[in-house]
Amino acid sequence: MADLMEIMMSEPPEEPVILDVPAPDYVPRNLIRDLRNFQGQRPNTCPEPYAHTERLRADDIPPVMWSPFPATWITGGNWVLTQYKDCAKLYQDSKTFGSHGQADFQKLIGETFKCIPLSFDGPEHMAYRRFLNPYFTQKAVGEMDADIRALCDEMIDDFLAKGGGDFAYDFARVFPVKVFFNLMGFPHSILEQFLSWEYEILHTRDFARMGAGVAAVLDWLRTFIHEKEAHPDDGLSSKIVNGSIDGRPLTDDEKIGTMFFLWLGGLDTVASTLGQMYRRLALDHTLQQRLREHPELITGAIEEFLRMQPLVNSFRQLKTDLTLHGVQMKEGDWVQALTAVSNFDPDTFKCPRDFDPERKANRHFTLASGAHLCLGAHLARQEMKIALEHWLKRVPMFSIADGDDMTVLPGLLSVTNLHLTW
Ligand code: HEM
Repeated sequence: MADLMEIMMSEPPEEPVILDVPAPDYVPRNLIRDLRNFQGQRPNTCPEPYAHTERLRADDIPPVMWSPFPATWITGGNWVLTQYKDCAKLYQDSKTFGSHGQADFQKLIGETFKCIPLSFDGPEHMAYRRFLNPYFTQKAVGEMDADIRALCDEMIDDFLAKGGGDFAYDFARVFPVKVFFNLMGFPHSILEQFLSWEYEILHTRDFARMGAGVAAVLDWLRTFIHEKEAHPDDGLSSKIVNGSIDGRPLTDDEKIGTMFFLWLGGLDTVASTLGQMYRRLALDHTLQQRLREHPELITGAIEEFLRMQPLVNSFRQLKTDLTLHGVQMKEGDWVQALTAVSNFDPDTFKCPRDFDPERKANRHFTLASGAHLCLGAHLARQEMKIALEHWLKRVPMFSIADGDDMTVLPGLLSVTNLHLTW
């Protein structure tokens, strides 16, 4: 049998090749595949960075497969689902699919608190959402609108003064993070440090580096929590750490669990989407012109950007044995919804590979679905909408600078640099 760690260090293959590596004995050997290319781990330079995921829809590819590689502290491999209806079940049937701490990176360093709200199901999860939802409603986001627009304009001024610039690095990477900092009451002086810790945790795939990043963030957040307990201000962090859930104060584990998960969710998700959005617009002047002439299409366009550029392939843990497409899965197995495929399912989306800002009922999974629907969804959409409205209003038709690197990682890391000119 091949050595799994050795394969993990190698370049992901283009094809979903069968791997001869250890797996639980009930996993059919032909389902054990190298799917890293489809999980966003192989960079490409295509105008449509997700076009290759069509391969997993071919007749010779099973709808359920087994990925043997460790994902964070989930070390034993996991099932992978590609069809829309199966992914919908994963998100919506929480009696079968438990949200059991898939993003609890802190387990890497032996911490025992859980991420809130993602690592809970049922009534506990609902209590946490009831506590957090009011700060993320459309109305609450609406109250931030003027400040977000002012920040966006200020950042565009710099680009206009320079006549171009690195959109991904100097705008997308920073704009949503500054909005999030203003919401949470974090000092802007820590911005670069936060982004570098976050890179270590989410993007290195090196468990030692990930653990060191987590330790540093938790240390910083715990000091910040103590400070806000002693000296509350108007920021959301103060409201969280001095708040109450169902009439009682939060425990220390709940405070750090909430702060850490908001930190993880709020930093580079919008940044990655923006990077890919502007790459697409810079390459497709017809689309750019259409949105300039018809700003009323921007809201629908945002949903298409989200659908066609999914970042997260969510995990769940089976609470019971399950047979799917004739494949027997066991209680305790981890299962991943491959949004990079299911968002292009033709049974749900007509002409799924076409970008259509007028698409009706665009129920993609980029912001998840069911009880764990992204808490920051309104904020994310509003940030993207404001960025697009202001750029299209103020910046002439833009293109990618000659000789610029066109590389995209079709997942969270997305586009690192994107030099625009006009
Ligand atoms: C385009 C941007 C974003 C994307 C693509 C995204 C994606 C997601 C996805 C897929 C989930 C569900 C994970 C799962 O069920 O396993 C999720 C949940 C969550 N997101 Fe986002 N997110 C984005 C922006 C944000 C922002 C800006 C914040 C915070 C300020 C945020 C906070 C959260 C939280 C707290 C949850 C957990 C919800 C729960 O468990 O009930 N997200 N997000």
